[in-house]
Amino acid sequence: MRTAVPDDLAAFVQALGVQWLRRPVDAAPALAALLAEPALGEDGKARVVAAVAPIVADECARHGYRSQDLVVLHPGTPGLEEALARFDQAHTHGDDEVRYILDGEGLFGFFDAAGRECVTRVGPGDYLRIPAGVEHRFTLTPARRIKALRLFSDTAGWVARYTGRAAAPLETLA
Ligand code: LAC
Ligand code: NI
Repeated sequence: MRTAVPDDLAAFVQALGVQWLRRPVDAAPALAALLAEPALGEDGKARVVAAVAPIVADECARHGYRSQDLVVLHPGTPGLEEALARFDQAHTHGDDEVRYILDGEGLFGFFDAAGRECVTRVGPGDYLRIPAGVEHRFTLTPARRIKALRLFSDTAGWVARYTGRAAAPLETLA
């Protein structure tokens, strides 16, 4: 398992103010069994959130994140391809985007002011804090599977603002 973020990628995203930490999930058997399921009901999601909340409690206190939920995407998720087509468009948010990846994998693209894009693959144990205003996009890998804890300071105001930047599908750049 990877224990550090590659230096060149880390430097690019750090220059943008993106925080990318490794916090390996040392899952007890009950948690591991939940994470191994492709889909989870509301009860399963709540159990995962409760189990991993202590790992990110310091970040919640530091940045004022007051709510969290678990995103679960898998090949059977209704409307998955339509959702991915939206996530793949470059956008910003008015609040931080925080993702702690617990299962599966995904691809993030980050744009600098010159429009250069850095594409990063994330998997279990990757914690990303994308500050408000940083232009980015996201997609899944062909496995089409991820579980990620999301942290919010204010869910009500959390929307995507598309920048309209033209770019090849993220999946083709990985
Ligand atoms: C989001 C990710 C996909 O905005 O960037 O949910
Ligand atoms: Ni986003």
